[in-house]
Amino acid sequence: MSETSGTPDASAAGTFDLDGETTVTRLGFGAMRLCGEDIIGRPDDEENAREVARRALELGVDFVDTADSYGPGVSERLLREADVPDDATVATKAGLLRAPEGDWLAHGDPDYIRNEALVSKDRLGVDTIDLYQFHRPDPDTDFEDSVTAFAELQDEGHVEHVGLSNVSVEQLDEAREQVDVATVQNSYNVTDREHQDVLDACEEYGIGFIPYFPIGGGEFDEVDDEIHDVADANDATPRQVALAWLLHQSDVTLPIPGTSSVDHLEENVAAAELSLSDDDVERLTDAV
Ligand SMILES: NC(=O)c1ccc[n+]([C@@H]2O[C@H](COP(=O)([O-])OP(=O)(O)OC[C@H]3O[C@@H](n4cnc5c(N)ncnc54)[C@H](OP(=O)(O)O)[C@@H]3O)[C@@H](O)[C@H]2O)c1
Repeated sequence: MSETSGTPDASAAGTFDLDGETTVTRLGFGAMRLCGEDIIGRPDDEENAREVARRALELGVDFVDTADSYGPGVSERLLREADVPDDATVATKAGLLRAPEGDWLAHGDPDYIRNEALVSKDRLGVDTIDLYQFHRPDPDTDFEDSVTAFAELQDEGHVEHVGLSNVSVEQLDEAREQVDVATVQNSYNVTDREHQDVLDACEEYGIGFIPYFPIGGGEFDEVDDEIHDVADANDATPRQVALAWLLHQSDVTLPIPGTSSVDHLEENVAAAELSLSDDDVERLTDAV
């Protein structure tokens, strides 16, 4: 289906309503891979990176995920240069620092979060951040204090919606006592169900679940045979099957496959049009 069915159309994935007013197409785009190697610095070809982002919008994607720590700063800047924030709902994040050696360091200090909101607004060229996500709870800062910073940024109009990332159900419930949580972003894919309980909670609460690492870089280990069989039977690629499976898992999933390649983007977006049978979905679900 990917190579032969014409221009891919993300809108076939349907929409998710963030708040009764803002609707996004359920198949989004993860902009982390637009950066240089190890998600540090600039990519070799910046114009290609901007073209990938622009092409995502042309294919109907209107939900784009980034973070201050991607680059750091590089992914947000490239999205602005590609005019993405004008045309899409952009979700960014704060709460992780990068070291030049590549380490990701949790930093949930409320003053830092508030500072980063201003930096991200400027880099994205927006007056209000569409969706601002706490990247990861910081063991050295009270979770409540970090979440309070996000709630205050929303009250002050810097941020429209608040999201969480890398949280447990308990942390989600704790945060929901302080702020309306629009989305949760945790790792989840056809081979990785560690956060199934968080997806189930999101479904119960009617909030978006953004499964990051949605195609696991294309490594399907435990379900390798099954996914290739289903892909062959559907004239699709294994990555398309993995994305279609995520879209079938729940009405609240918002997969954000990441790529630095226009060809890969087109293959991934075409997954929106892949309708798996109940048998195929069950076979993959039961394979892990
Ligand atoms: N909240 C968090 O802590 C967190 C953590 C990680 C990621 N994220 C977010 O989630 C998004 C997605 O995660 P991810 O990028 O790590 O994982 P992913 O989307 O599962 O996989 C991306 C990897 O697969 C490759 N790829 C993508 N499409 C392909 C295709 N059609 N054929 C062959 N290779 C393909 C990409 O390489 P190419 O560039 O060569 O296509 C890249 O190496 C990120 O962009 C980021 O926005 C969030």
